[in-house]
Amino acid sequence: MAKPPMLAGALPFIGHALELRKGPVDLITRGRERHGDVFGMKLPGADTVVFSGLKAHETFFRMPDDVVSQKEVYQFVTPIFGKGIAYDTTPEIMKEQLAFLHPALREQRLKTYSDCFVEEAELFFEKFDNEGVMDLYDVGNELTIYTSSRALLGSDFRKHLSGEFARLYQEMEGSLTLLSFLNPYLPIPAHRRRDKARAKLGEMIKKVVDERRNTKREENDILQALLEARYSNGRPMTDDEVVGMLLTVMFAGHHTSGVTFSWNTILMHQHPDYLKRVMDEQAAIMGDGHQMRIEDLRAMHTLERSIKETLRMYPAIIMVMRRVLKDFQHEQYDIKKGQMVLCSPAASQMIPTIFKDPTKYDPDRFGPGREEDKQHPLAFLPFGGGKHRCLGAVFAMLQLVATSSVLVRNFELELIEDSYSPDYKRILVGPHQPCRARYRRRKAPLVQVPLKAVG
Ligand code: HEM
Repeated sequence: MAKPPMLAGALPFIGHALELRKGPVDLITRGRERHGDVFGMKLPGADTVVFSGLKAHETFFRMPDDVVSQKEVYQFVTPIFGKGIAYDTTPEIMKEQLAFLHPALREQRLKTYSDCFVEEAELFFEKFDNEGVMDLYDVGNELTIYTSSRALLGSDFRKHLSGEFARLYQEMEGSLTLLSFLNPYLPIPAHRRRDKARAKLGEMIKKVVDERRNTKREENDILQALLEARYSNGRPMTDDEVVGMLLTVMFAGHHTSGVTFSWNTILMHQHPDYLKRVMDEQAAIMGDGHQMRIEDLRAMHTLERSIKETLRMYPAIIMVMRRVLKDFQHEQYDIKKGQMVLCSPAASQMIPTIFKDPTKYDPDRFGPGREEDKQHPLAFLPFGGGKHRCLGAVFAMLQLVATSSVLVRNFELELIEDSYSPDYKRILVGPHQPCRARYRRRKAPLVQVPLKAVG
């Protein structure tokens, strides 16, 4: 057995951190080209072993929690989620807490959610002028606060979701930097802003929880699922835990979906031929002007493939990490307790033996006859894989199809930046700002064409 080969170019003290911050995909691709599927790099705090390629993905995503742990790596979210929630508890309790979300993310609930997505997106875009300039990053973020909180936390919550809530939420999330990742409790102004915003948000959500408990009204949302949940010892969740779990779900689903919305809009408009096919599909399905339903969203395969291609090229979570708690082996390599292991969906989805011509925007790779994502369960990783695979993947895809459909049916867009590139300074990676587009509200309704004529 051997140690994984160490990638050259580490600087004293900071190792590869600067290069990782500047261009994580380039760094990992460089390591992969030089050393293959598994190699080491140095990051502050720990030697890190990178896993890329299908066999390495299997090891990474199938290791049990008592061998590789998320808890130590994701401590930066504890000041947001709250003490005793998710990564700040034992893997067993975290598993119970996440299981509380299952009833609310079930298939039957998705119909209600998709109605919420459509209604919120229509209300959101109604407020826009007939023409102007929008920043796609801001639009994705703001729109998703409304759609996900409405769907997840119920209409009573949405009533209380004043501009103040959206502002505080953005402030809390915006204060996350790479420094938070290294030490979430560093006494820096950004962390003080985060804590202040978290405290106020907690108070606002608590009021909604109290109201729901007092009125005993039953809704089809996650708040309801959490109020009804019981730990295996029969204990219900405390109010603080309910607030913490609600913020956990908001956090997991907000920025991730927001930046995917922004990137997908950019990519479609950079590829007018594909956009034309998306618009033909919209005309075929929605051209008679009826209210959009879940069946319509599910029939929008051309749009959905663009979103999948976006998630392949620009996944919001560019890397997932674990701390090694017990030594283990992968092929000829020894991985040691105390090291970190890392898998990067962003870099792995650029491996040409998995996705053909990977730098090309080619949504048809997900279509019939090709389905490059289906060749292996761990080929397409925007939602992670294995036992910690994203619980909100279906919810997120429906939401993205709904919001993107409302956008393109209402507006013609023209991209105005010279280029659009990923901003790796953020923990959840979206396009660099400004990322603006000029918009003009469509005057004529879409003309309906038969669906079978659409490619
Ligand atoms: C485009 C949108 C989204 C993306 C790209 C995304 C991505 C991911 C990824 C990569 C993971 C795995 C993290 C790891 O292995 O360390 C994850 C986990 C998770 N996601 Fe998402 N997510 C999205 C939307 C959502 C939504 C909308 C929800 C909730 C409604 C959600 C809830 C969760 C939860 C609860 C986990 C933790 C699962 C576990 O550890 O067992 N996500 N997500």
